[in-house]
Amino acid sequence: MSKSTASGYFTEADSAEVVTARNADAQNERLKQVMEVITRHLHEAVKEIEPTQEEWFEAIQFLTKTGHTCDDWRQEFILLSDVLGVSMLVDAINARRPTGATENTVLGPFHLPNAPVMENGGNICRDGKGEPLYVHGTVKDLNGKPITGARLDVWQANDDGFYDVQQKGIQPDFNLRGIFESDADGAYWFRGVKPRYYPIPHDGPVGQLLGQLGRMPYRPAHLHYIISAEGYDTVTTHIFDPDDPYINSDAVFGVKESLLGKFIQVDDPEKASQLGLENPYWDVEFNITLADHT
Ligand code: BEZ
Ligand code: FE
Repeated sequence: MSKSTASGYFTEADSAEVVTARNADAQNERLKQVMEVITRHLHEAVKEIEPTQEEWFEAIQFLTKTGHTCDDWRQEFILLSDVLGVSMLVDAINARRPTGATENTVLGPFHLPNAPVMENGGNICRDGKGEPLYVHGTVKDLNGKPITGARLDVWQANDDGFYDVQQKGIQPDFNLRGIFESDADGAYWFRGVKPRYYPIPHDGPVGQLLGQLGRMPYRPAHLHYIISAEGYDTVTTHIFDPDDPYINSDAVFGVKESLLGKFIQVDDPEKASQLGLENPYWDVEFNITLADHT
């Protein structure tokens, strides 16, 4: 132990050790461990950056503005975590799965817990806007056995790039949301609209930061899913459109290769009418593989 750590006096060289030694009596061991790591890395960063007092205060003001931007509907700190790649990293750490199982991605802030439960084939588009899309696939286990009764909670933005909760009074309530159940063959199918890219909320400090970093606020077109079945690991994920202009620059790093769908335009009036869609329509298949819950 160096002299400054033992005395509790602060020096530039021993800064992190002095602070950590002061936390020695913390009751909660996990908190103590987390603070040791945070203190070590934060002090290391400050030593490498050598901020001026003005730069330090700018950082304080940024965090203050981030806090002031939060309300019941807006969580600017989560958005900050998203654009720093931290949300995806935490998700990756907590959703490690065997090869072949469907991968997770970010939940995002627009999920509602009580979407309407619908029959397979139902249309989640409640205002008739947008290019029709037929979504279908299967839910199976890692051995290829169909899973019956899996719950698929799906939601998406409209073709202007807004979720219903962002356009109250403009879009019908629960527009582009529904809960489906896989059938005896593990199959599910529903109708929606072709999604479009949209910006994450970018009129606050996080949007300003992205601008200063030369980054776009856009998320590539996607549909959200939460798939759950008894005895299996719940999957929170998306299907992405690989032809989207922002597919390689998702503002929140949510894209994974295994989650790229194939959006095919179908021009077949008979099939469209069988499905209850206008011709032409888009078709995307998304097959899900669930891993056993461990
Ligand atoms: C979303 O996909 O809904 C989303 C995810 C992260 C931040 C903002 C939106
Ligand atoms: Fe989204």
